[in-house]
Amino acid sequence: MDRIVDLIRAKRDGEELTQEDFERLVNGYTRNEIPDYQMAAFLMAGYCNDFSDAEATALATAMLNCGQRLDMSDVPTPRVDKHSTGGVGDKVTLIAAPTAAAAGIYVPMITGRGLGHTGGTLDKLQSIPGFRTQLSMSEFKTQVKELGLAFTGQTDEISPADKRLYALRDVTGTVESLALIAASIMSKKLAEGLGALLLDVKVGRGSLIRGRSEARKLAQLMISIGRRMNVTVQALLTDMDQPLGFTVGNALEVMEASQTLQGQGPPDLTGLSTELAARMIYLGQSSRSIESARDQAQQLLADGSAITKLRDIIAAQGGDPEVVYRFDLLPNASGEQIVSSPRDGYISRINADDIGRAAVMLGAGRDSMDDPIDPAVGVILQSKVGDQVVAGQQLCALYYTDETNLPEAVQLVEDAFRLSVNPPEPRDLILDLVQ
Ligand code: URA
Repeated sequence: MDRIVDLIRAKRDGEELTQEDFERLVNGYTRNEIPDYQMAAFLMAGYCNDFSDAEATALATAMLNCGQRLDMSDVPTPRVDKHSTGGVGDKVTLIAAPTAAAAGIYVPMITGRGLGHTGGTLDKLQSIPGFRTQLSMSEFKTQVKELGLAFTGQTDEISPADKRLYALRDVTGTVESLALIAASIMSKKLAEGLGALLLDVKVGRGSLIRGRSEARKLAQLMISIGRRMNVTVQALLTDMDQPLGFTVGNALEVMEASQTLQGQGPPDLTGLSTELAARMIYLGQSSRSIESARDQAQQLLADGSAITKLRDIIAAQGGDPEVVYRFDLLPNASGEQIVSSPRDGYISRINADDIGRAAVMLGAGRDSMDDPIDPAVGVILQSKVGDQVVAGQQLCALYYTDETNLPEAVQLVEDAFRLSVNPPEPRDLILDLVQ
């Protein structure tokens, strides 16, 4: 049998590995028999040489088999989940999941922390004082059964391989590989005992995937992995060139998600969250048509059912449900730095990558695996692409608790904004449906 270094060499030299090779790597790493440095070298070799679709499927299967699959046979159907490939200001899950659960969909959601410059649902939920993101399998199942929705991070029982690999990729420059993204997402989601899965594949500067054709390829790869396991998978390709909504940062995003659930959200965030909730409802076949699913999602947002569901979930997982109304109960930053427009014009671009990296610099994300998160920090935009501004008008504010990286973060945010004399062409938010 090859030594681990031989598998690293094989991948470095562009060879295709087998299912058995991936099982050895994944099981060995998860059991601490393979050190981080060897796994990091392997991931980088794969990142540079690419993995074939067969290898991506083998990796996803090995990662899935390494943990336990939830036996959801006593949880009612329809069981549908959603997952985003990661964006900046992407707090859609906090809105779409409770909306779908309020419609009678059972949503067993295993979710991750921030990755690279993109935020993670787990970190956002952890900004809620008291909220527990590590549920045991039986707690998780019971809550899905009783309330229709539970959130948990990967644990030593559920998706243990993704838990370790996800954190390692984040700090070794190996996040943006289609095969690694597909295996990470599908190994978590296929452990959930789902009937259907909706993917939000983000495209653009704030995403892990920059081009539409790459995004379509990723969507198709995940759909084919799902098909092998009898899970219906659909994917929306959505624009992630500028941040979604106005806020970037963990507690700030919980606040904006709460406002959106109360009908006071920005149009882009409200529109996308409603569409994703509707598609979850439709995939669960709780609606005859996508049009009636959209009406149902809008109704559940408008009549308060969706926010009540989120409050119930927060309370069940140990958090203070009042945070959805009283934002002073969330962690608050101590400093504010305003960035203003240098001249008159139209905002033609807000580079989401720069805004995401600035938020990470302030402490909203991690530079190394065990870095703590500062839940209070982030950026609030005052304007979005297409808005007209005058010289000196506030474009956004940075919220911080430690000034060390502030000048660099301000520089990034200033560079993120581009102004033009004429209004830019409007861009579509929802680009395509892949199924
Ligand atoms: N979301 C995940 O769960 N994993 C990735 O690798 C990227 C986004």
